[in-house]
Amino acid sequence: MRAVVIRSFGGPEVLKVEEVPVPRAGAGQVRIRVEAAGVNPVDVAVRTGALVEGGLSERREVHGLGWDVAGSVEEIGAGVTGFAPGDRVIALSDRLDLSLGAYAEQIVLDADAVAPAPAHATSVQAATLPLNALTADQAIDFVGLAEGQTLLVTGAAGAVGGYAVELAVARGLRVVAVAGAGDEDLVRGFGAEFFVSRGAELGSAVRGLVPGGVHGAIDAAAIGTAALTAVRNGGSFAAVRGGAAPVALRGTRVANVWIRADGARLAELAKLADDGRLTFRVAGTFPLDQAAAAHERLAEGGLRGRLVLLT
Ligand SMILES: NC(=O)c1ccc[n+]([C@@H]2O[C@H](COP(=O)([O-])OP(=O)(O)OC[C@H]3O[C@@H](n4cnc5c(N)ncnc54)[C@H](OP(=O)(O)O)[C@@H]3O)[C@@H](O)[C@H]2O)c1
Repeated sequence: MRAVVIRSFGGPEVLKVEEVPVPRAGAGQVRIRVEAAGVNPVDVAVRTGALVEGGLSERREVHGLGWDVAGSVEEIGAGVTGFAPGDRVIALSDRLDLSLGAYAEQIVLDADAVAPAPAHATSVQAATLPLNALTADQAIDFVGLAEGQTLLVTGAAGAVGGYAVELAVARGLRVVAVAGAGDEDLVRGFGAEFFVSRGAELGSAVRGLVPGGVHGAIDAAAIGTAALTAVRNGGSFAAVRGGAAPVALRGTRVANVWIRADGARLAELAKLADDGRLTFRVAGTFPLDQAAAAHERLAEGGLRGRLVLLT
């Protein structure tokens, strides 16, 4: 089968398509015929070596790329129940110690990382869901707010931020969204009650809308300290990028939230998407052997939605 791998760190040109053996599903695992794989900022961090430099991953001879999987089950390992060959599924590949990721024609994952695909989505759409919706969901769990409380979401027009707004609204939170002025309609469409234009002084702008400051924040744009100034004393703050967690001033609770695969929760997120509570946003597609071109397009910035590789 074909897979995209890297043998050295660098620009998009280090992404190579190689012929590799088809992996077998071991006990408790599922092999998926990948139809679509999302292209995410973390894939760039793997490609450049930033994850190794940051201590999040070990240096290996070969690194696979890609976290978001949409496709169909091909093989199930011993002890797997709940999936059968032919089932349409989505999954998150969160293992940085493996030489194969989702940029491949086939992938083997632990069954508990896999979920039924949303019924009303194409594979391309479905491949945009796992990484970003799970990250947003797990960040909302961390901030731990009660219904009616206020949540600041920076980078609200992005993939993580957009889902954070929609999922927070689905949980009854009131959202203050920070995004570019041209994205106000977009993020209000996700359900944000308040809007602050990117570049504003967040402490005063947000406190002008929510007296005393918001109860929690998800900092998808990695603004850091300036975003924390919008959080009230004792509030909570989720950073999602390495090195982007500010010092927990004023009794706040601050942490980097790192994604983990969770097939059961992913199944619930797929249902929310089917119910129209989560929006699929596809910015474009590329064939697997043009992964480098997809990375170049991602680097240009300004995308609204995910790029997706087709196998
Ligand atoms: N912790 C985890 O487990 C985890 C998982 C997934 C993603 N992440 C990280 O989460 C971050 C967001 O990922 P993503 O996929 O959502 O990226 P994305 O789709 O590129 O979204 C980022 C958004 O932030 C906007 N932005 C940049 N600076 C801003 C500012 N100062 N104020 C408001 N908005 C601003 C960008 O606008 P422009 O495009 O116009 O610049 C873009 O809309 C990345 O750092 C990614 O690596 C972490």
